[in-house]
Amino acid sequence: MVFSGRYSARVERLGGDASEVWAVHERASALLAAGEEVYLLSVGDPDLPTLPSTIDHAIESLREGRTHYAPGAGELHLREEIAGIEERSAHRPCNPDDVIIFPGATNAIYSVMSCLLDAGDEVIVAEPMYIGYRGIFAAIGAKVVPVALDVSNGFRLSLESFSAAITDRTRVVFINTPGNPAGNMIPAEQLQALADLCLKRNIWLVSDEVYSMITFEERHVSLRTAAEQLENVVVIDGLSKSHAMTGWRLGWVVTHQNLVEHLLQFSSSTVFGCCQFVQDAAAYALQNDEDYMAEVRSKYKKRRDFVCDRIASIPRIDCSVPKAGMFVMLDVRGLNTDGMRFAEDLLEEQRVSVLPGEGFGNSTRDYVRLSLAQPLPYLEESMDRIERFVNLRSVDAGDASQVD
Ligand SMILES: Cc1ncc(COP(=O)(O)O)c(C=O)c1O
Repeated sequence: MVFSGRYSARVERLGGDASEVWAVHERASALLAAGEEVYLLSVGDPDLPTLPSTIDHAIESLREGRTHYAPGAGELHLREEIAGIEERSAHRPCNPDDVIIFPGATNAIYSVMSCLLDAGDEVIVAEPMYIGYRGIFAAIGAKVVPVALDVSNGFRLSLESFSAAITDRTRVVFINTPGNPAGNMIPAEQLQALADLCLKRNIWLVSDEVYSMITFEERHVSLRTAAEQLENVVVIDGLSKSHAMTGWRLGWVVTHQNLVEHLLQFSSSTVFGCCQFVQDAAAYALQNDEDYMAEVRSKYKKRRDFVCDRIASIPRIDCSVPKAGMFVMLDVRGLNTDGMRFAEDLLEEQRVSVLPGEGFGNSTRDYVRLSLAQPLPYLEESMDRIERFVNLRSVDAGDASQVD
């Protein structure tokens, strides 16, 4: 007998169209595995190591037997640490009960959205948006209403566009500052105005701030710092990017205690607590990160400056200099191609893998994203190859115009 059990509609929705965007990266990984020299600028897993003393702390914690179930909301000492950081940066009280721990920001976002959205509800999302959001909204069955940032103006947000996108079905406005992929930062006055707008319309405002600690010239301003009232405000952060701890899976939500209670109920039946020793290590990392974070920021800034300077020196490609994060969006419009073609051809001809911009939404179809999560010499070789690739195209274009 042939089994013909069906899958849920959720499975169908999750099977969406992201595969095309990752095809270049997957081909690059296959070429690498086959022994070819390929330069991977398509992923955002930091190349930097986790702080060694954080690792030692985790090992000690494991040896001390911190290997059991943890409280559902997270270990109190970690929540106290995060609440303290919040209090110092936002200059307003934050209670450990306003904080709940998750195994990574992805799970935190999924849990928050599961508590705020029903299938069919609308969620307004700033675009370009981090690729991972699509699957979360697809799993829930929420309708994503993208609102494009101004790609030609440093990916600036327009309050009017957000306001115009609100309908009776809007439940959540979702922002990401500093942003992936564009490294844009939403200024305090816009955050405040957006929070005000959402509060008046009874809409939740959720901010993903996982790049909050990787900023360059300006300091990060959190939604919780900028908003006048906090009832409808949710902030998500984590250690993956800032502390190069992607594999440890540690993120958190700071929000109103009513929502924390719902989140606790949700996570009690989906996650059932995060590893004790990982939480111990996370608290240690947050307490001992001053020099480490200064070095992380300085490394990414040097890389950003290098890549952006090189782009500026190459005719027909362009970028707006990111203010934060680990990525640069390369504008390929001047080459009469789109991001997908550029990424495919670049991999074939020069063996550099970048992510096509359409993965982040329509507004960045003519862009590709370059990751800065590689050491400078690696970025140097990658940029040499990108320059060669562009120069060859410029020659082609020159030939074509002569024929015309
Ligand atoms: C904007 C943004 N949010 C969330 C995540 C996921 O973070 P985590 O590893 O904590 O799940 C990423 C990872 O790339 C990201 O770029």
